[in-house]
Amino acid sequence: KIIALLAGGTTGEWVVSVRSALTIAQNIDTELYEVYKIMMNDSGWFYEPSDSVKIDIDKNDFSLMIEGRKIKFDGVFIAIHGSPGEDGKLQGYFDMLNIPYTACNTLTSSITMNKHYTKVIVDGILNLHNAKSVHVFKGGSYSIDKINTDLKLPYFVKPNNGGSSIGMSKVKHADDLSMALEKAFNEDTQVLIEEFVNGREFSVGVFKANGKIKVLPATEVIPANEFFDFDAKYTPGATEEITPGRMSAPELEMVAQIVTDVYEKLGCRGVVRVDYFLERETGKFFFIEINTIPGQTATSFIPQQVAAMGITLKEFYTQLMKETLG
Ligand code: DAL
Ligand code: MG
Repeated sequence: KIIALLAGGTTGEWVVSVRSALTIAQNIDTELYEVYKIMMNDSGWFYEPSDSVKIDIDKNDFSLMIEGRKIKFDGVFIAIHGSPGEDGKLQGYFDMLNIPYTACNTLTSSITMNKHYTKVIVDGILNLHNAKSVHVFKGGSYSIDKINTDLKLPYFVKPNNGGSSIGMSKVKHADDLSMALEKAFNEDTQVLIEEFVNGREFSVGVFKANGKIKVLPATEVIPANEFFDFDAKYTPGATEEITPGRMSAPELEMVAQIVTDVYEKLGCRGVVRVDYFLERETGKFFFIEINTIPGQTATSFIPQQVAAMGITLKEFYTQLMKETLG
């Protein structure tokens, strides 16, 4: 089968995407799949067979013309984090062209890209605990004083449609909120201000293979910095990460049940990753967010979790491709 591996994107996460695509390209089974890496960014969509050659994609049917031969794709492996690969835009485009892809559909992708709407839906459908939060729009009618009255310090201030902790701050003093908002608004027109949860932090991959939802061994995250920021995420050794994370048997069972429900009820496809806390005092599960195009870089969780499950990345990617591309 002929596969397009999509990398790049139009957000600050494009550099993460390039590294995710590298892992995928190095591990995909090239006996089963003929892979073309397609870069998609502000300057265009193209295939680059060598440093000096760039071949543009024909956007009418997502095809390539190489030496007079038209190449059409049997499927697409999306490795673009953020827009346009994780927010539903490409999903809608490929649905229109009838080209299958290894990811959630348009609706699921666009909802889950929005941290606030995801929380509302996850709470509404699954009755899960979320950190208390306020969702504000750039130029909107929010009041900083009111936020400081309604929420308890410290807070996390996040671009609402962001990833990889870009533009995110931890606010410990009420006076610092306006600067944190400004920083987040540089990345997005919506911002989420969330109360801190005193919990152990985990992240777990969930995927479908042979028609069944499977849960990978979770990773426990112990950031050395104030929180799990961009540098902590992508600098080897900057964070203590334990896979499988330390959970008791009842905790493992509870988490597996919850994340399987999340996957099913949100109509997910491919591999996603659910981030959560287990509150220290009560052991309760607090949903943080779901990432529908989770990182596959050398320091990302999914490759670690696949190794902990005892299969190779090659087998894992083949399972994903078979499930979504047939
Ligand atoms: N947003 C990054 C890539 C992740 O969730 O892994
Ligand atoms: Mg994320």
